[in-house]
Amino acid sequence: MTIPSDADRTTDLAVETHGLTKRFGTQTAVDGIDVAVPRGAVFGFLGPNGSGKTTTIRMLLGLIRPSGGQAMVLGEAMPRSLDSVLPRVGALVEGPAFSPFLTGEQNLLRFDAADRHSSGRTRRERVARALERVGLSHAAKKKAHAYSLGMKQRLGLATALLMPRDLLVLDEPTNGLDPQGTREVRALIRSLAADGTTVFVSSHLLAEVEQLCTHVGVMSGGRLVAQGTLDEFRRSGSRSRVQVRTPDVESAWAVLASFGVEAEGREAADDRDTATGVMPAGVSPEAIVAALVSAGVRVRGFAVLTESLEQRFVELTGEGFDVVA
Ligand SMILES: Nc1ncnc2c1ncn2[C@@H]1O[C@H](COP(=O)(O)OP(=O)(O)O)[C@@H](O)[C@H]1O
Ligand SMILES: [Mg+2]
Repeated sequence: MTIPSDADRTTDLAVETHGLTKRFGTQTAVDGIDVAVPRGAVFGFLGPNGSGKTTTIRMLLGLIRPSGGQAMVLGEAMPRSLDSVLPRVGALVEGPAFSPFLTGEQNLLRFDAADRHSSGRTRRERVARALERVGLSHAAKKKAHAYSLGMKQRLGLATALLMPRDLLVLDEPTNGLDPQGTREVRALIRSLAADGTTVFVSSHLLAEVEQLCTHVGVMSGGRLVAQGTLDEFRRSGSRSRVQVRTPDVESAWAVLASFGVEAEGREAADDRDTATGVMPAGVSPEAIVAALVSAGVRVRGFAVLTESLEQRFVELTGEGFDVVA
């Protein structure tokens, strides 16, 4: 990868940080991270709870000050350029505070009125459009306390959509939603991205990121441990294993070894006849099968197992992820 010049960077990247750090007392919540989010990307900011996602997002939005490093959002330094950057950014961080006694529509009108860049003349129209976009038009006149969690989350998204935005920053937007609500929010994010809005979305749910994102960054213990396109990420983790079931396990191993397959496991006891090994890149499974057969190995089962994205994440973060969206 070539390093772009400074001039290019500001045009190509919607979010860019250098050594961004946040300490709370003696604890380093975000530890010198270099994030790069290309314009137009849907960037999945992934990591287990407590890994520093929200803290990073709060720094990007100028809600808290970094202890060190720099953050550039839409080509401008934060928090220095807060006033010019924020109107172009829609954000949902740990759910906005709605008044439960106002209707969804009244809540949005109030939010919009608090934005000094918004014109009062077009306010009602803007609010109606945002409600429509998130599928809440039918509930516009309902009080917010009567909203389901999914509806509240969508109302939160609506606040981010009141104005046209270049960047949406969404902190775990499907947290606490049921599968139906999750699908709806996901579809909404997809349609926003299709309009060209860059989306920075955090999640501790792998399935969400996998279905939605073009790029991912993985946080673990305050560090960014991996970053790239989803495809790059898949490839970097695609260590294939080969598995042979045979009563002739010794001769099978000899053949596998001749292909450079690294022995990984020979299942014990009831699975005595299964040999599993890591396949080196560029070895074709067909060639292995042919060699096994010509060496007289009685092949009763043959499988190539590709490492899942989930296994890759677990490897990187040392933690299991919830895989259920
Ligand atoms: N205001 C704060 N004061 C002290 N510690 C905090 C504060 N905010 C976050 N932390 C700590 O920083 C770490 C990262 O938290 P957070 O950014 O919320 O992670 P995530 O969003 O990935 O779950 C956690 O250990 C959390 O307890
Ligand atoms: Mg968080």
